[in-house]
Amino acid sequence: MEIARASSTGLLSLIILVLGVWLVKHKAAKRYKLPPRVPGIPFFGNTFQLGVFQQGVWAKEQAKKYGEMFTCTIGGNQWIFLNSTRVVYDLLDRRAAIYSSRPSQPMVQDIMSGGKRIVMMQYGPEWRAVRKVMHQILSIRSKDIYQPFQELESIQLLHEYLRQPQKWYLSNQRYANAVMLSVVFGRRADLDDPQIGELFATSNEFLQNLQPGYNLVDGYPQLAKLPRFLQWWRPRGERAYKRTISVYRREVNRLLESVEASTAKPCFGADFLKAAEQGDFDEAQKLFTLGSLLEAGSDTSRITTSQVLAAAALYPDWVATLREHLDRVCGHNAERLPSLDDRDQLPYMTAVVKEAFRWRPFAEIGVPHVLTQDDEYEGYKFPKGTVFTWNAYAISLNPGEYEQPERFWPERFLNEDLNSPLKGHYAFGAARLLYCFDFTENPRHDAAPVHVELKPRSPQHAALIERVYQSTFVEKGLIASRD
Ligand code: HEM
Repeated sequence: MEIARASSTGLLSLIILVLGVWLVKHKAAKRYKLPPRVPGIPFFGNTFQLGVFQQGVWAKEQAKKYGEMFTCTIGGNQWIFLNSTRVVYDLLDRRAAIYSSRPSQPMVQDIMSGGKRIVMMQYGPEWRAVRKVMHQILSIRSKDIYQPFQELESIQLLHEYLRQPQKWYLSNQRYANAVMLSVVFGRRADLDDPQIGELFATSNEFLQNLQPGYNLVDGYPQLAKLPRFLQWWRPRGERAYKRTISVYRREVNRLLESVEASTAKPCFGADFLKAAEQGDFDEAQKLFTLGSLLEAGSDTSRITTSQVLAAAALYPDWVATLREHLDRVCGHNAERLPSLDDRDQLPYMTAVVKEAFRWRPFAEIGVPHVLTQDDEYEGYKFPKGTVFTWNAYAISLNPGEYEQPERFWPERFLNEDLNSPLKGHYAFGAARLLYCFDFTENPRHDAAPVHVELKPRSPQHAALIERVYQSTFVEKGLIASRD
């Protein structure tokens, strides 16, 4: 009886809330002028058109119809998609000061993350403080923090490819997780360790909850105004928060102990905890900053690495060109592995990485940014609170922006953009993979996310991997349980 009464009160408040918000928005809409609108259905707008998967395909279709910008209603928010490099640059880059906040996410951010995950934090003093410290550490120390771990883990990755080529996609995941774990917490861990499993399980839970549509309240943040006892999502969110924070705390305490004992390796975590002593960060902020970084770098690098392999299998011509460059630097007969120190001699490799980001962008429809004050642009008037995103898939695959966009063609970046950090990243060890292995398309290999098969380029390249693996891991007694 009690439950039935509570549910009907909840439903009624929900309907009143949604109607109220709709009326306010409808009135406000008259004062503003937005780009062409994609037709939707009453109340829900375009929410159900934008599926959970392959959002880029839908958004690219709309860009074709509506041009450089279009508007749609997703959940309780107005979204404007930016469909050309020109408008992305004009708004998200040149006017970043007012286009950099995030939408309200009552479940994933406020409850599950205690409001502390930087990737979803709204613009304000807290975001600026965390961002400043992160930026300082990553920009000044990125080379010495990243490079040794990337070099080491990529040897492990090559060896796994050699021993279990059919599981290359699992090895990519191990590699990305292991690099980030070392970068953030300074320790090389056995990824089969259950404690590490728990750490990555919290990331997976978060990423799952982040999917649009997973939590109704994140699409319709007005629901968070319901009385607490009617917020059916809250207990699940609070349990996730407790679990996450205790897993992070265990890892951070371990790091603090090694700092205390002067045995900690240089890593982001050690630098951050030191810097945080001067800043005004509470415990939850410290824990979530480190955890967020682990999440931000793991899946992104794993997927991008796998896409390079897919591109190598589909378009062998660029691999041949890259091999010529690599052979000139590292020898034609597997004399040594490429290293990040060779970067200046390998501009083609940098172009490959940039092309990987363009060819299949990780975030197909970008990442939502929220406008923090009313703004005008080319005859349009946008209200504060509008969500903006760059339509990454549509831009990358637009022949008006990139010649033959479907083709993986690194040469397109061999120009003045090559060394602009904003136009690409250098964050993974693909050179070694492409130097040592051949990648071919094989539709029968359907366990992997893309149908790629790999084998060593030659017996000499296989021998090189074995040699380096032995001297790096086996002779030094480093963990061998990942074989
Ligand atoms: C292939 C690798 C990566 C890709 C494709 C990628 C992609 C992205 C994208 C699309 C965003 C959102 C940017 C925006 O909203 O304008 C982002 C944010 C972020 N990324 Fe990455 N990322 C990668 C690697 C990394 C790594 C290795 C780290 C950490 C060392 C990292 C840390 C972050 C952080 C902290 C943010 C949030 C910035 C903020 O909201 O202020 N990412 N990344």
